[in-house]
Amino acid sequence: MSAGAVVVAAGSGRRLGGEPKQFRKLGKVPLLAWSCHALSRHSDISELVVVVPADIAAAPPDWLVGLCDVVVEGGPTRRDSVGLGIAGLSGGHGTVLVHDGARPFLSAKLIGRVLEACRDCPAIPGLPLTDTVKLVGEGGRVLSTLDRARLRAVQTPQGFPLSLLRELHEQAARDDAEATDDAFLAETAGIPVRVVDGDPLNLKVTTGADLALAEWLVGSGDLEAAGIEPPGVETS
Ligand code: C5P
Repeated sequence: MSAGAVVVAAGSGRRLGGEPKQFRKLGKVPLLAWSCHALSRHSDISELVVVVPADIAAAPPDWLVGLCDVVVEGGPTRRDSVGLGIAGLSGGHGTVLVHDGARPFLSAKLIGRVLEACRDCPAIPGLPLTDTVKLVGEGGRVLSTLDRARLRAVQTPQGFPLSLLRELHEQAARDDAEATDDAFLAETAGIPVRVVDGDPLNLKVTTGADLALAEWLVGSGDLEAAGIEPPGVETS
């Protein structure tokens, strides 16, 4: 069955200063172009919707139009933007992937792993933690140390049966629920979520240090070894 994909990139992302981080150059192209390229060239993805800020949705650049099927305007929160992205899919897909445009280095292997696991229940990529994690209360007092062996740092793309994700988002919109990822909506509805192996290269670019690391990776050969190609798009 075919899969749809939604890339959310409508955040203000101005922690780096200047334009939103997803439109900053990484290598020779905008950061957002990397993950759109990976999804658009994957043989199991038949439709790609990209969610962007209002000014960009009003006049999307050619490189973006060339990489996806539909560009839609986002909403005030990530959850709103995902809801608008799902609504922009033409439908008919068995499954859908939701990916953060702030994660440029998306390999075909990771896409395949999530798609394979999400046919009957939500599936999300996760990485074991190297730091020890503590629960902290008022005044910075440590309340407990969590069992690191059971913790995972969760990434995107997150995969869902499309009809299920639609229902979860419709309910969340009615409840005005907050969610930093989509799997949370399934968890709170009591629906089991499966974790598959994440990818250390699939980093989220949030700070200037993240962007510097991503730039370094572009020139390092690690991406090529993982089958992650730079998008061949023309940008002005
Ligand atoms: O802010 P956060 O790091 O959670 O953002 C994750 C992703 O969600 C980013 O790619 C960002 O552009 C997107 N987002 C969005 N609409 C919003 C807020 C965030 O599409 N209103």
